[in-house]
This record gives sequence, C-alpha cells and structure tokens, in this order.
Amino acid sequence: MDRKLDELLYALMQNMMITISGEKLARDLNVSHSTLARWIEKLREAGVEIRGELFTGYRLARLPDVLLPQLVRPRLRTTMIGRVLYHFYSVDSTNAFAARLFAHGHKIAEGAVIIAESQTSGRGRLGRSWHSEREAGLYFSTVLFPKAPPSLAPLFTLAAAVAMHNASEHYTGLDIDIKWPNDLLVEGKKFCGILSEIQAEVDLVKNMVIGIGVNVNHETLPPDIADRATSLRIASGRIQSRVEILLEFFEEFENIYMEFERRGPSSIIEQWTSFSSFATGRRIEIHDGVRKITGVTRGLNALGALRIEQKSGQLEEVYSGDVVSWE
Ligand code: BTN
Repeated sequence: MDRKLDELLYALMQNMMITISGEKLARDLNVSHSTLARWIEKLREAGVEIRGELFTGYRLARLPDVLLPQLVRPRLRTTMIGRVLYHFYSVDSTNAFAARLFAHGHKIAEGAVIIAESQTSGRGRLGRSWHSEREAGLYFSTVLFPKAPPSLAPLFTLAAAVAMHNASEHYTGLDIDIKWPNDLLVEGKKFCGILSEIQAEVDLVKNMVIGIGVNVNHETLPPDIADRATSLRIASGRIQSRVEILLEFFEEFENIYMEFERRGPSSIIEQWTSFSSFATGRRIEIHDGVRKITGVTRGLNALGALRIEQKSGQLEEVYSGDVVSWE
C-alpha cells in the first residue's frame, strides 16, 4: 500500500498547472525535505512525470492515469465492494498480497479491493503468468467472505465475469463474449482473465480472493500471446478510462453478489448463460488437466459446471479446465 505516495501525488494533482514549492509540500505532508525528495523519485520510477526539484518546486508534466483512492472513493456507488481500497504502484501480485494479509491475521473488510498500477509476478490460471504492464490495464483483487460451501465458490468467479462483461460492454459499446469459465473475449480474443483463490473448511469458504486482470489500454501485446490476446483500446480504436470501467464493475458485481444472497445460484447461472455464446450449441475442446473432452456445449449445471455432449451422446459435466479450441 503506497499511501504516502498517493498523498503526495494527490497534492500535486490538486495544483496541476502550477509549480508547488518543495518547502510547502514537505510542510503539508509533514515530512522532511529528504523524505519528500525520496518519494518524488519513487513516483518518477512508477512512471509519473514530475518536473523540478526540491529548491525550484515541483509540477506534474501531465495528468497521470493513476487509480488514486482519493479519486476513486468519492465516486463509489457501492456499499461494500471497493469501500476499502489498498493501492500499489507496483506489487508482485494483488492476489498474493491479499493472501499475505490473511496469513498475517489482518482483519480485512468484505469487499476490500487491492489494486495495482503494475504487477511484477501477475498470476494467471493453471500456473500461468499475467502480463501486467504499467498504466495499461486493471489489475485488482476483491476479497469476499461468501456464506457458502466451497462447491459454490466457482459461481462467484462466474459472477465476476458477468460483472466485468457488463461493465466493459456498457462503457465501451463493444460486443463482449464470455468463454467458459471466466475469460472475456472481444472479436474472439481474450482481454480479461480471472483467477479466484479460496481458503475453506469442508463446508464453508473462509475467504475468497477474486483477482481480475483487464487489458484496457495496451497498444500491443507480447508476441507470445498476440495471436489470442487483445485490449479494449485495440478493439475499439480509442483509449478507454480504467477508472470508469472499475467503478462500473464494482457496482455490477455488488448487485450480482447481493442477488445471490437473496435468490441463490440461479441468478448467476441465468445471467452467465445469457451473455456467453459458449453456453449452448458450441462445438469445443476442453482440457480439464487430465483429459481432453470434445463435444457440443449444453449449458451449465447448478454449480456452474459446463455440460458437454460427446459424440457418443454421453453428457459430461466439466468443473474446471481450459477451452482450448472452439468453432
Ligand atoms: C487468467 O489466467 O486468465 C487469470 C488472470 C488473472 C490476472 C489477475 S491480475 C490481478 C490478480 N492478481 C494476480 O496475480 N492475478 C490476478
């Protein structure tokens, strides 16, 4: 949590066009000159363009696209999701940070969100990594304490996919698809992935961390994934606002989560099914870690497993895996 750097950046942003004296900044933030100079360097390392030095004063060269809690908080339309925000300029992985908070016994509020401008070891599903370029994407994790058994946990990941589907579609106007279980696609390429991790007893989830990565403003993707990955900017041809998409996601996700508490799993399953072209009648091949299963999709069961009708007519319910090819 880079709270001090956030305070400094917020002070600079409030004086956007003018040079603000180092003396005054240090006084307002109640720190020594050398600490201020160190923090300015840290912000510069994080990509914030700051002109000047301690004795001439400091000025922002351009408005930085940083998800400052000071700017996000007043605009929240939720009562739970995002009410507590941990913000990093750089962290190994927002999911790993959440896990460390739990491991060290910290009290964390439900709906707390850990957000990073960049990740040095962003984690993907099935042991993969997640490309986490600075300022280009959204990289965040939401903490939940669902009153549900572990068998229902995958439903909350589907719910997050529905919420990000709605947020990114409403905001960009693009046509977004959900590939089972929780990849978001635009023009057939992936721009968002979700990694959920739980700690559970046999019949109760103790905590759940839903980590979401969205390629928002990437201009290009690394060559090894460029054939199957894209960004909202590439698909729409214009820069998109990370903060607007984030705020809309918080609202959508809170609504779906609360509806689950009232109505149970059916609302999540219904919404996922209506937004995914993979739900029914799609010929796909899945790897479930052990086997390859080929067949035509026949909807989700009540726990979110994908039903696949194989050539033999046999119906298989797949609980986890990766859709590796589809028609
Ligand atoms: C996938 O493989 O599709 C899931 C990618 C999930 C990436 C996000 S970025 C924020 C959060 N922190 C991580 O280390 N991973 C998730």
